[in-house]
Amino acid sequence: MITVERLCKRFGGLVAVNDVSLTIQSGKITGLIGPNGAGKSTLFNLIAGRYQPTSGRVLLDGADITGMPPHELFARGLLRTFQIAHEFSTLTVRENLMVVAPRHPGERLFNVWLRPGLVRQFDHEIRQKADEVLEFLKLDHIAHLPAGNISGGQKKLLELGRTMMAEPKIVFLDEVGAGVNRTLLYEIGDAIIRLNKERGYTFCLVEHDMDFIAQLCDPVIVMAGGAVMAEGTVAEVKSNQDVIEAYLGHGPKQKRQVK
Ligand SMILES: Nc1ncnc2c1ncn2[C@@H]1O[C@H](COP(=O)(O)OP(=O)(O)O)[C@@H](O)[C@H]1O
Ligand SMILES: [Mg+2]
Repeated sequence: MITVERLCKRFGGLVAVNDVSLTIQSGKITGLIGPNGAGKSTLFNLIAGRYQPTSGRVLLDGADITGMPPHELFARGLLRTFQIAHEFSTLTVRENLMVVAPRHPGERLFNVWLRPGLVRQFDHEIRQKADEVLEFLKLDHIAHLPAGNISGGQKKLLELGRTMMAEPKIVFLDEVGAGVNRTLLYEIGDAIIRLNKERGYTFCLVEHDMDFIAQLCDPVIVMAGGAVMAEGTVAEVKSNQDVIEAYLGHGPKQKRQVK
């Protein structure tokens, strides 16, 4: 589904992503792991349109999407989750879903303009869709609460729910489990697995919790020092000597870190 060809990103003198080529296959949950500063978030940001690459290409189903802005990628079904913006914290959980624009407005929106009588029906459909998403994620009991008042883990589920409103093809999740307790982390994991199995979503996710990665991801891609160093099943990469050394911090990549 996604093909990354020789992607590079420099920040001044620092090469954050260095000649990365990889593919993300449709229908899979691909894990992206690696030590801090490996370039994982930068790679996500390059694919999801937040950064322009210094060089290289990104293809989505064969179409060149290199450097395309996030709203165009959204229209093509490529989404990454973002934290609920501060100004949305007073909206309810349900409203936070309803404000996500549908991905295929085309004919329906055209109808809305030409036949204003359909507007109400359109709103009704969006509300129904939001309620369906809430039920899927087992958030229906907090639908009426302001998003600012729910727990950190519930916010992560809501972020996932926002992508569901757009019926994405592929979703990028960067450390969705950061700061989330284990019970909720596994609820998030369960939702990801169900979205993958039941709805056919493709996922690519960065996560530090290796048990979580092992439960969800096949394959796993390991990055270190801005480059891909291994790819395979969790068992395969765990027994890879280069990977072990990268995590223990013996590689040359540690020196590059600017912190
Ligand atoms: N916007 C930026 N400007 C300058 N350097 C950056 C920027 N974003 C990331 N970096 C640097 O690029 C390297 C890779 O960072 P990042 O992609 O965030 O790694 P990871 O997500 O794997 O921890 C790090 O050395 C980081 O400091
Ligand atoms: Mg990161």
